[in-house]
Amino acid sequence: MWPNERLINLFGIELPIIQAPMAGSAFSEMVVAVSEAGGLGSLACAQLTVEQAGRELESIRRRTSRPINVNFFCHRQPRSEPGREMNWRRRLAAYYIQMGLDQNAAVVSSNRTPFDDKMCDLVLEFQPEVVSFHFGLPDSNLLARVRTTGAKIVSSATSVDEARWLADQGCDAIVAQGYEAGGHRGMFLTQDISTQIGTMALVPQVVDAVNVPVIAAGGIADARGIVAAFALGAVAVQIGTAYLHCPEARISPIYRQALKEAKDNATAITNVFTGRPARGIVNRLMREVGPICDAAPEFPLAAAAVEPLRAESEKAGSADFTPLWSGQAARLNRELPAAELTRQLAEETLEKLRFLETMASPDLLAQAAALATIGRPASR
Ligand SMILES: Cc1cc2nc3c(=O)[nH]c(=O)nc-3n(C[C@H](O)[C@H](O)[C@H](O)COP(=O)(O)O)c2cc1C
Repeated sequence: MWPNERLINLFGIELPIIQAPMAGSAFSEMVVAVSEAGGLGSLACAQLTVEQAGRELESIRRRTSRPINVNFFCHRQPRSEPGREMNWRRRLAAYYIQMGLDQNAAVVSSNRTPFDDKMCDLVLEFQPEVVSFHFGLPDSNLLARVRTTGAKIVSSATSVDEARWLADQGCDAIVAQGYEAGGHRGMFLTQDISTQIGTMALVPQVVDAVNVPVIAAGGIADARGIVAAFALGAVAVQIGTAYLHCPEARISPIYRQALKEAKDNATAITNVFTGRPARGIVNRLMREVGPICDAAPEFPLAAAAVEPLRAESEKAGSADFTPLWSGQAARLNRELPAAELTRQLAEETLEKLRFLETMASPDLLAQAAALATIGRPASR
């Protein structure tokens, strides 16, 4: 029924649609809705404590027996650099003063933690069918423990080199994350944001470079994008931003409103919220301090000094200091429950594929065959 069923069969799902893991925005209710609809729901754990992740997983396993994906960041936790962090605070000092906040108050450290033994214990306990990573892969001991559960292992690549590296480490599938994508760039072999590649160019080059199934991500929000992903050689899509419009997304009303109003050119890549490049809707902090700022401490340390500004400005109903992660296709939004969105995306994709099939009439096929012979010597 689908142009390529490799991933559906590998993951044991019905539809080639993965709801992207979205740390801080998508939790158990979204995962259950998408998985029950036949897609693959994903729980991102990067901003959860082990206890919180355990509660979410318990709730998911109670409500669905369908396959799920559990996702982790696997960056190396950087050493604190007090000088750099002080300098960053100085860079933000004017905002602290404006909001009447104490610049010297102890800042709660950022809660974006890498995959570790405790999170790995949770994987062993809940045995998700798919475990995916962002920013490469965890160290080989942790990865070996994950493998013992039989979970399929997935990670994001933003270049052919990264895809090859992930395939060499034994990933079962690779997410080709184009430049259009919302949230953090999964890049891990380069820090050069200027050479990152769009989905249209990245997917077929990754498909040509690796033997494992490739999942297209970045700027895909409707059936047109999914059909295009198949045409590029992908076997499934991973969709983030389109799911943020669903009622199941646990996001603030100001974030929801910003997404609703976002135009095609509303987003940019920035490092000012966390220290790593991520795509979000441009707001005051990005405009005035970034979008890229060399003074931002290494990921995830930059977040600590921004956090009090976010909390204070949100109290006043402002998104000036809020990370508004979004891909470039936010304007293709439709506000539907996540299960409904998943089913509609699948149905509309199949409709489009059927339409394309009927377009391939015998006449057209004959024309294509004739075109193929133009300029070639006639065979005797
Ligand atoms: C709000 C948000 C949070 C995200 N958090 C994560 C995450 O925790 N882990 C991850 O692997 N990818 C994360 N991503 C990236 C997605 O996996 C995916 O690459 C991206 O959403 C695809 O682009 P799209 O948003 O245009 O659909 C996030 C994306 C968004 C929009």
